[in-house]
Amino acid sequence: MRLAAAEKIKKAASLPDLEALRISYLGKKGELTAVLKQMGGLSPEERPAAGQLANEIRATIEELIAARQKKFKEKEKSKRLVSEAIDVTLPGKSSPIGHKHPISIVLDEVTDLFIGMGFSVASGPEVELDYYNFEALNIPPGHPARDTQDTFYITDKVLLRTQTSPVQIRYMENNKPPIRIISPGRVYRSDSVDATHSPLFHQIEGLVVDKGITMGDLKACLEAIAKGIFGGGTKIRLRPHHFPFTEPSCEVDVSCFRCGGSGCPMCKYEGWIEVLGAGMVHPKVLKNGGINPDEYSGFAFGVGLERITLFRFRIDDMRLLFENDVRFLSQF
Ligand code: DAH
Repeated sequence: MRLAAAEKIKKAASLPDLEALRISYLGKKGELTAVLKQMGGLSPEERPAAGQLANEIRATIEELIAARQKKFKEKEKSKRLVSEAIDVTLPGKSSPIGHKHPISIVLDEVTDLFIGMGFSVASGPEVELDYYNFEALNIPPGHPARDTQDTFYITDKVLLRTQTSPVQIRYMENNKPPIRIISPGRVYRSDSVDATHSPLFHQIEGLVVDKGITMGDLKACLEAIAKGIFGGGTKIRLRPHHFPFTEPSCEVDVSCFRCGGSGCPMCKYEGWIEVLGAGMVHPKVLKNGGINPDEYSGFAFGVGLERITLFRFRIDDMRLLFENDVRFLSQF
């Protein structure tokens, strides 16, 4: 039995085979168990020797099975190690993390500067009434300013806003002075795309209304912002201009941040770069917003966000901001 068992165990092809063999010899109905059961029929003299032999056979079978089991397990383990091997030299899978668009970077910077000066952020609709976009801002039908701000009309009286200035009226209608807001947002004009134009762009509107507000307040405020965006050495210059909703009105230049004012291609050798329009809020506009111009005065300004983003990052074509080429955008 011992030899036969040893032979079978040697030939067992798998762990389950081994288990079946173990049961066939040592299980309740196994061959060896049957032999042990018959020991009762032996004479007392025969029993010890037979018992010892049976125990030896059992021990041998158990040992052989255990040794074989160990082999199988080792084989299985090394097979698993091979099949589950990880090639640590393979390139990893990266999950690229997005980041802010340059326009958003500059908008956040500017917003922070204004919030630091006590401003809050207001918003208004992009689909706007003609009344708020033009009429209430002192641009009646037929006014030549409408020609420079042609836009997309939904109906005769509803349009895509051409400027963020309508937020001035909407805010004044719903809030009492003192008012200190900026209002960033998208605006639209039916312009063809080129290096400096886009039918969709962004502006930041500013409005301050209180008792005794003067042009001096406007200048100090814009100077602080210009230094914040373009650097501490930046100077500003106010040039007379005309906007229907401010009186007096001005355009504001900053000293060229590239050459410091001595003249270079960036500022077209002028030393100054125009960045925004501003002025004292027209009495009619205050009235349209429900504010008494005899009691209150205010200043307003409007900045093109793309323009200052281009300057801020020295980008020379506005189209790059809208093409969404990640290779370009990931540089900022
Ligand atoms: N809304 C003007 C534009 O789009 C910019 C502007 C100029 C806004 C003067 C103002 C301002 O608030 O006072 O051209």
